[in-house]
This record gives sequence, C-alpha cells and structure tokens, in this order.
Amino acid sequence: MLRLALSLMLIIMTKPLLILVIGSSGQLGQSLKSVSKQYPQFQFTYSTRKELDLFDLSTLDNFFSTQHFDVIINCAAYTAVDRAEQEPELAEQVNHIAVRKLADIAKQNASLLIHLSTDYVFNGRACAPYSESDTTQPKSVYGETKYKGEQAIIETDCHALIIRTSWLYSEFGHNFVKTMLRLGKEQKRLSVVYDQVGTPTYARDLASAIMVLVSQRGEQQRNDNYESIYHYSNEGVCSWYDFAKSIFEVSHINCELEPIETKDYPTSAQRPHYSLLNKQKIKDDFQLTIPYWRDSLSDCLQNLKEEK
Ligand SMILES: NC(=O)c1ccc[n+]([C@@H]2O[C@H](COP(=O)([O-])OP(=O)(O)OC[C@H]3O[C@@H](n4cnc5c(N)ncnc54)[C@H](OP(=O)(O)O)[C@@H]3O)[C@@H](O)[C@H]2O)c1
Repeated sequence: MLRLALSLMLIIMTKPLLILVIGSSGQLGQSLKSVSKQYPQFQFTYSTRKELDLFDLSTLDNFFSTQHFDVIINCAAYTAVDRAEQEPELAEQVNHIAVRKLADIAKQNASLLIHLSTDYVFNGRACAPYSESDTTQPKSVYGETKYKGEQAIIETDCHALIIRTSWLYSEFGHNFVKTMLRLGKEQKRLSVVYDQVGTPTYARDLASAIMVLVSQRGEQQRNDNYESIYHYSNEGVCSWYDFAKSIFEVSHINCELEPIETKDYPTSAQRPHYSLLNKQKIKDDFQLTIPYWRDSLSDCLQNLKEEK
C-alpha cells in the first residue's frame, strides 16, 4: 500500500508541465518551437489556425473541452497593422474577443495565460522609455484591439502575464529584416524613415525570456492590474533607418540608404514616433539579462545565412 502511494506521489511529482503554444506558425510561435528543445522536462503542444481558429470561438470550446494545459502561450494575433484599418472587425475578433474567451478558459481551468501585446498601445509622444503603468493611447486599429485584449485579460482576473514587445523579427515569416535583405539586394537605393524610434526584438530572445517566465511561474505576487504586464524588447535604441543600415552593414549589402520622415512614407495606420519600452520590471522580477539589439541582429543574420 505504502509502495503504491509512493509511486502515485512520484507520478504526480514528475508530471510534466503541459504547455500549449497558440499561433505556432507565426514568428514567435516558431521561435518558441525552436527554443522549447532546451526544455525536455515540459510537454509542448502547438496549434495553428487549423486546430484553433480564433475567428470561430466554437473551435476554442471544442479544443479545450477535451484537453487541459497548465500554461497557454498565445502568440496568435491579427498583425497586419495597415490592413486592420480597412477590416477592423477582423482585428477586433482575433485581438480582443478571442483573447477574452481564452482568458475565461484559462480562469476556468486554472491555467497560466501568457499573452503578447505591443508598443503600439502607446501614442509615442513620450520622451523617456514607457513603463508598464504609463497611460496608453493607441493610434491605430491594431493598437486599439491589442489594448482591448490586454484589458479583457485583466478584467477576467485569470492568472496571466501580458508581455508587450516591439519591432519583432526572426528567421521566420515576414519581417523588416527579411524585407530589407531582399530589397537591399534588388535595389541600389532605398528610403527608410528615421523619425520613428524604438528597439527591435529578436523573436528568439523573446521566446527564451518567455520560457524563463514559464519556468518561474507562480512565484510573482499580483498586487495591482499592472503587476501582470511586462515590457520586453532587446536593449538599446534605434530608428528604422538605423536598423536598416545595420542590416546592410552586417550583411555586407551595398545599397544606398536615404533617411526620410514618416510624412514622406504615408501608411494607412499611424505608428508611434517613440516606442521605447522600459524593461526594468521584467529584468528585476525574473533576473533576466537582455541582449543588445545589434548583437541579436547579428545572431539572426548568422542563423539566416546558415539556413541557406
Ligand atoms: N511583429 C511585430 O513586430 C510585433 C510587435 C509587437 C508585438 N507583436 C505581438 O507579438 C505576437 C507575435 O507576433 P508575430 O510577429 O509572431 O506574429 P505573426 O508572425 O504575424 O504570427 C501571428 C500568428 O497568428 C495566427 N493567426 C492569425 N489569425 C488567426 C486566427 N484567426 N486563428 C488562429 N491563428 C491566427 C497566424 O496564423 P496564420 O499563419 O495561419 O495566418 C500566425 O501564426 C502578437 O501578439 C503580436 O501582436 C508583434
């Protein structure tokens, strides 16, 4: 009898943490898939739009009615910032309504929800890095719907960590780095805006940070609404022009760059001119060391080169 009880205890104690990654075909989703290899003690499940379509809430009910997860990492989002201005209802559904539903499910199942948000919740008029409790004022449909997603999670009061990040890039999918690499080889001269300032984030670094949070989950005390929000980007600061220049320098691409103002590159959605994120809280709470953006850019470019 004692032996049976001890074996049961051992099984319970060694039960792996069950982690679901939603949106696993996106940049961050794929980066998490790659980083997760360093965590054999956890059991990962990856869902794409095929298994879990955030446009259709009934797929969420069906999916979670038969499966339980200790941690749900939501990397899925409507991320087409300009297109969102033309189809706000689609952005609203994925970035807000479906997120509220996910938060309800996390609460019912006592799961930890890790959700990604954006620097675009701010208006960009600050002159010092934004901290988590700073006033939000999104300037675009995308930013507004992401902000409403954050609020829905906080209102639901589920166990959640919301991570706002900025200027994400990776080896996967579409992003600024890959676009510049392509255009820089095709064209002799390119114009890039210099009056939008922020910090690029290598999705692999963010994925590694998320896994540190997952490993240390539950240790943080929640005192107020802002307690569950964290800012994460790489260290340092640059404009899109500086970013493009560095991509060309590191990749030895000989393309002339012209710095231009945002007004000379009109887009459907307005973007914040300044979106630096203050990362002190996540560094303190999780003892994180964050790489400098140019070092991470070199890592990503090296990984892209090795893939060829
Ligand atoms: N990219 C950035 O610069 C940036 C900056 C700040 C914050 N963020 C946030 O960071 C997170 C990750 O961004 P990312 O760059 O990895 O995004 P991404 O590459 O655009 O990937 C988004 C994922 O969401 C999925 N998705 C979209 N609509 C869906 C739906 N209706 N049902 C299920 N899945 C759906 C996409 O699936 P399909 O492949 O099938 O379309 C894709 O896998 C997002 O929350 C984003 O808002 C991104």
